[in-house]
Amino acid sequence: MNTSVASSNNSFTATLQDLIEYPTSGILSKVLLKDNNSQYSLFCLAAGTEIDEHTSTRNAVVTVVEGTGNLNLEGQDIALSPGVFVFMPANAPHAVQAQQNLAFVLALSEHSPEKKKINQKTINIIKFTAPILRKHGKTITTRMYEIMFHKYPEVKAQFDMSAQANGSQPAKLATAVYSYAIHIDDLEALKAMVEKIAHRHVKTNVLPEQYPIVGECLLQAIKEVLGDDATEEVMTAWAEAYKVLADVFINREQQIYQTVNS
Ligand code: HEM
Repeated sequence: MNTSVASSNNSFTATLQDLIEYPTSGILSKVLLKDNNSQYSLFCLAAGTEIDEHTSTRNAVVTVVEGTGNLNLEGQDIALSPGVFVFMPANAPHAVQAQQNLAFVLALSEHSPEKKKINQKTINIIKFTAPILRKHGKTITTRMYEIMFHKYPEVKAQFDMSAQANGSQPAKLATAVYSYAIHIDDLEALKAMVEKIAHRHVKTNVLPEQYPIVGECLLQAIKEVLGDDATEEVMTAWAEAYKVLADVFINREQQIYQTVNS
């Protein structure tokens, strides 16, 4: 784990040249400063070092302090020399090669994708169906897991099957879905719940591409359990609402994965 040179609670000044240290080969990086939204690191690459193409889920800015090299950003070569400043949007593929010893500051900042707005009609329908969801919540989520484990048995390995058997996991999911239904127009109120679930998801290695699976099975379960009450309008509203909630989790979990892996 990297400790930072400075703390985000206090002012701090440094002359970057004094902090530069080149390894005989490869990369030496120092975290200068880190808080919940951003991280500033000094990267010192020995001449000849290459960083293979990769992406970051955060926005990044490279400011070259000394040396020369090449940054390939989304297929375009950018010559690096002192004073060059490059902004790399989140998820843009990039690779670096140091020709001479190369030092740059990398500033990472949270990328907050524009939040999708849920339309008012959807909000009204979701709120209207919330009491029905409360009544049938556990029946729906128990059925949802049944459908999912049957259709997608490979996800079973991520779950604690005793929590399935004693009903605690379906009960937790039902509570989460109901809380979402009543707070759909005030997602801030769900912050603590999202935080807890997102951390649990990261521990069990839940991935973005698994959200459509849960969505499909949850919608099918809602349809089966609600029967005639599951009109086309209700199902369309729940499909839209699920996508918005899934995006909230996916974004938060990406941030947690990145913190865990950095
Ligand atoms: C918007 C969709 C989702 C909601 C509302 C949701 C909700 C929850 C809740 C409430 C918990 C319990 C957290 C705790 O123990 O405190 C949980 C755990 C979990 N969820 Fe999700 N989840 C969603 C999507 C997914 C997806 C896509 C997957 C991938 C397969 C998944 C897999 C898991 C796993 C593996 C656990 C841990 C369960 C265990 O320990 O047995 N969830 N989720």
